[in-house]
Amino acid sequence: MLPNMHHAEPIPEEARDEIDRLLQSGDLFRYTAPENAPVSLLEAEFAAQLGSKYALAVSSCSAALFLSLKALDLPRDARVLIPGFTFAAVPSSIVHADCIPVLCEVGENYRIDIADFTAKLDTVDAVIISHMRGHTSDMDAIMALCNARGIPVIEDAAHSLGTTWHGKNIGTLGKIGCFSFQSYKLLNAGEGGIMVTNDADLVARAVILSGAYEHMWRKHMDRKDNSSELEQAFARWQNKLPLYNLRMSNLSAAVIRPQIPHIARRVTDGRRNHDQVATLIEQSPWITVPDKLPPEERAPDSLQFNLEGLGDEQVHAFVAAADAAGVKVQVFGLTQDNARAFWNWEFLPEKHDLPRTRAMLMRACDTRLPARLTPAECAAVAAVLVDAADKVMREANRAYGT
Ligand SMILES: Cc1ncc(COP(=O)(O)O)c(C=O)c1O
Repeated sequence: MLPNMHHAEPIPEEARDEIDRLLQSGDLFRYTAPENAPVSLLEAEFAAQLGSKYALAVSSCSAALFLSLKALDLPRDARVLIPGFTFAAVPSSIVHADCIPVLCEVGENYRIDIADFTAKLDTVDAVIISHMRGHTSDMDAIMALCNARGIPVIEDAAHSLGTTWHGKNIGTLGKIGCFSFQSYKLLNAGEGGIMVTNDADLVARAVILSGAYEHMWRKHMDRKDNSSELEQAFARWQNKLPLYNLRMSNLSAAVIRPQIPHIARRVTDGRRNHDQVATLIEQSPWITVPDKLPPEERAPDSLQFNLEGLGDEQVHAFVAAADAAGVKVQVFGLTQDNARAFWNWEFLPEKHDLPRTRAMLMRACDTRLPARLTPAECAAVAAVLVDAADKVMREANRAYGT
């Protein structure tokens, strides 16, 4: 029996009491309570979970990316390098910050092509590394290249909560890491985002820009540490920055906080499910699942694989056969107006030709694979995918008489 792969996991029961308390008091704004507002507690808990000094919760990961660029004080028309395989919200956050997205090639393994990245690096002022679908690019090479040039790295870790690189959390390798709490992510609040950093000046700027008006920034300070570099940073930026008002509501924080203790289980189960299905479908001569990079421990809640030796018509037939058998697959480059296909980002100020990324997107398949699936359900999903490829290729070979 195939599971519904689009249903979210229920929000933990503990959220209800806190939401009820907030509804009773009407205390939904993060800056009303003198201390310990749910949003502030979420920030402290998330920073501790990631091993970062500071966290700022906001309305979405897109808002976190936008505020990161603004916190870096990039001038208008600054150029920001991103991988050509990401979600349209990422170049959108760059355009929103009055900067110009520059796209680099991504290989068949969904990771940044380091040669193309290097070739473009000297033309840019900042970098956003989108770990798209939780696939980590070679962060050793990327950090070394960027550090050597003094180019700041923002990590878009929307899909990477729980992923590690040499044992260190993704999102803590660059200057700033941004995460999403939109419903399809590991922590689900419907909408929401958070940024983490160890840099007092950057977080002070981001806090004020996010809408900490007057002296609300005091509620971002550890009460034990009043003379901190953070306080000096806030004082430095007082009244100097616009207020974009991208704050998170206490209700969202109340939904997210009780999910934090479930991160470890969701990561372990998601990895188990992914690896089980990957092993099974790789037995098909028509399917490959790219290997992870050696320093990477993944936290997948979806599965990507490449179809090999199929033409466009057969890829469409594969998607239809899998769908008819109950598994929804999208091929990023073949579904109309797909927001992850760079040629659909017609709002970009500059056009980009990325033949390698385009070729990958035309054969890369994507299916959800939630952590809550059982091994039997995962086996059923794998069987559908293998059978769909077999069926399509048997028919194709018959048609061509081979
Ligand atoms: C790779 C990636 N980065 C950033 C975002 C933006 O996240 P949000 O919806 O929280 O703005 C998304 C959205 O799904 C995404 O897929």
